[in-house]
Amino acid sequence: MPSDQPREQWASRAGFILAAVGSAVGLGNMWRFSYLTAESGGAAFLVLYVGITLLVGLPVLLAEFALGRGSGKSPIGALAHYGGSGWRPLGWLFVASGFLILSYYSVIAGWTVRYALTALLGSFPEDFGGFFERVATGRSALAWHLGFMVVCVAIVRGGVKAGIERTAVILMPLLFLLVVGLALYAATLEGSGAGYRFYLEVDFDELGDWSVIQAAAGQAFFSLSLGMGCMMTYASYLSRDEHLPNESLFVAFSDFAVAFIAGLAVFPLIFALGLDAEITSGSVGTMGALFITLPKTFAEMGGAGHVVGVLFFVALVVGALTSAISLLEVVTATAVDGLGWSRHRAAALMGALIAVMGIPSALSLKVLGFMDQLAGNVFLVGGALVLSLFVGWRMADPMAEVRRGAESTTWFGLWVWLLRVPVPLVLAVVLVQSLRALLPG
Ligand code: TRP
Repeated sequence: MPSDQPREQWASRAGFILAAVGSAVGLGNMWRFSYLTAESGGAAFLVLYVGITLLVGLPVLLAEFALGRGSGKSPIGALAHYGGSGWRPLGWLFVASGFLILSYYSVIAGWTVRYALTALLGSFPEDFGGFFERVATGRSALAWHLGFMVVCVAIVRGGVKAGIERTAVILMPLLFLLVVGLALYAATLEGSGAGYRFYLEVDFDELGDWSVIQAAAGQAFFSLSLGMGCMMTYASYLSRDEHLPNESLFVAFSDFAVAFIAGLAVFPLIFALGLDAEITSGSVGTMGALFITLPKTFAEMGGAGHVVGVLFFVALVVGALTSAISLLEVVTATAVDGLGWSRHRAAALMGALIAVMGIPSALSLKVLGFMDQLAGNVFLVGGALVLSLFVGWRMADPMAEVRRGAESTTWFGLWVWLLRVPVPLVLAVVLVQSLRALLPG
């Protein structure tokens, strides 16, 4: 029974933009971006990631915005609106991605809360690796994961205006200031030069490396929250007269800026403190790279390190929260639109289900790593592939929807053509490579 209440709308233009930026900016920009950059050799990864974001990510982001605003529905309804009910299964795939991603994302978010509290109390134990293991798996990981899900449910229950928008409007500027402050601080450290070189000096040989290209593509999608209807759902709460192309540019640019500036903090910090061998060789395990080396970094800085450490982990929590609520919103909105549930009931029941699904990831880093690979490189890339084909070939007049509110702008004229051939082509190649890497044999 579809709900017949009028659909809620964002209170302001800035509110929508900050919520979308809040969704994009998260653990992906800091934890995932820095471990992938470290693993994939630094600057070459950065260059590929920027290129894919512009040529593939941006067109798909605009596609999600157009589908969401044009239909005023969450993913399943949006696809059926433009493509007929035969497209509903793709919407189900999106919702499944939401369950999958949030189930382990919340586990990592739980670690960050635990780290932020530990930093606040100034009590990281000497053995950073052992501490990470205790935090990252087992009972502690499980407890903080469940706690984090409770907070997400509480915010999403409040709805888009009172819950999500208000949270994002306060927390996103704070996060940005924290990350910029950290990068400035890192620049004052002696020995940080090697960090800048690692991060910014491109090794051209690596630009053609398949595993680096694949990692960069997965990261572009994960970081922009694309490929599962998340941005679509947020755009469904928009009024007609927004300039979607400019807004997608702003969101993509902010997302990139936070990742880039976080890198300007993380790499100089790591090199200044001589932790580079450890992090770039991956001997601590890529998942834990950030969580093991940074507290160590902060500890070696003395008094200032205490403050910087608190700021850093608080920033991580903020990013994680505004992203996690966007994932929960997709499933919640789907249940509200499709099953006619109340928002309170949908958020609570879906949140509980996701919390339970996250238990295996909380108990095993291996499971968590596998989920992350599966989600980023297969579900999101596959979802974005079908989405670009859908908008490029199936939707009757995608340009008409994008032009509403952007009549005088022409730079996005190429958009539909990008979605028709180049974007699906790149995504199809990446998807095949990812499946081969994931499946044994
Ligand atoms: N983009 C967020 C981050 O970087 C994570 C995220 C939120 C996400 N919603 C998403 C990833 C939807 C993929 C799809 O942390």
